[in-house]
Amino acid sequence: MDKKLQIAIDGPASAGKSTVAKIVAKDLSYIYCDTGAMYRAVTLKAMQNHFDLNDEEKIATMLTETNLNFEPGDPVQKVFLDGKEVTEAIRRTDVTNAVSTIAAQEQVRKVLTDWQRDLAKDGGIVMDGRDIGSAVLPNAEVKIFLVASVQERAERRYKENIAKGMDTDLEQLKKEIEIRDHKDSTREISPLTKAADAIEVDTTAMSIEEVVQKILDIVHETVFRK
Ligand code: CDP
Ligand code: CDP
Repeated sequence: MDKKLQIAIDGPASAGKSTVAKIVAKDLSYIYCDTGAMYRAVTLKAMQNHFDLNDEEKIATMLTETNLNFEPGDPVQKVFLDGKEVTEAIRRTDVTNAVSTIAAQEQVRKVLTDWQRDLAKDGGIVMDGRDIGSAVLPNAEVKIFLVASVQERAERRYKENIAKGMDTDLEQLKKEIEIRDHKDSTREISPLTKAADAIEVDTTAMSIEEVVQKILDIVHETVFRK
């Protein structure tokens, strides 16, 4: 495949975006970009500084002094915030539950969207998030919107937490996912939404391998159509 495409994968929390995006990127020898990790890192820094998370001015100023780097890694992409690795810290429950507040802020979205567009400008990238197909890369050649029932998504997170040896509660996870999805879908700027030209894939009853194959089939069909 000669042409290096932009592939956007969006959807609600725990739909399997990052898991499949990573595999698709590897298969195509593309770059993988987890935009959620960017919002999480900004949230972590604001929390470490004990900022009021609703103080948009303060967080916008903080961003001008923030250095965020990603290093490809297998199976996890490493994230560095101001030179310090935060790959695990950004996944903490307190960060997860705070990130939608920061992600609703105009200045934060503007700065991160510019970074994301710059990373994607030459194509050859699989980017996952909430607004990639609808706002960040409106001309992406492939746009996928992954969904799954809330029950299934909570169960996936639950199994992941158990495997990590974490204390976890299925009903609590379900509630947290619903709250975050609601905040992400109802914010004013670039809400979580399916782009008109995105292909929806319901992964509720699909394995990771089946979802990956489905996306690769869509990618190949797209290339043939061109
Ligand atoms: O992996 P998970 O579904 O838990 O979330 P994530 O992809 O790491 O994203 C964390 C949060 O960042 C989301 O709940 C959104 O609030 C925000 N986000 C966003 O607003 N726009 C994006 N393109 C990606 C993430
Ligand atoms: O990035 P996002 O929040 O959308 O989801 P993820 O972190 O990629 O996936 C959440 C969990 O669901 C992971 O533990 C995946 O292994 C699992 N998963 C699954 O069981 N079946 C799928 N079809 C996709 C993901």
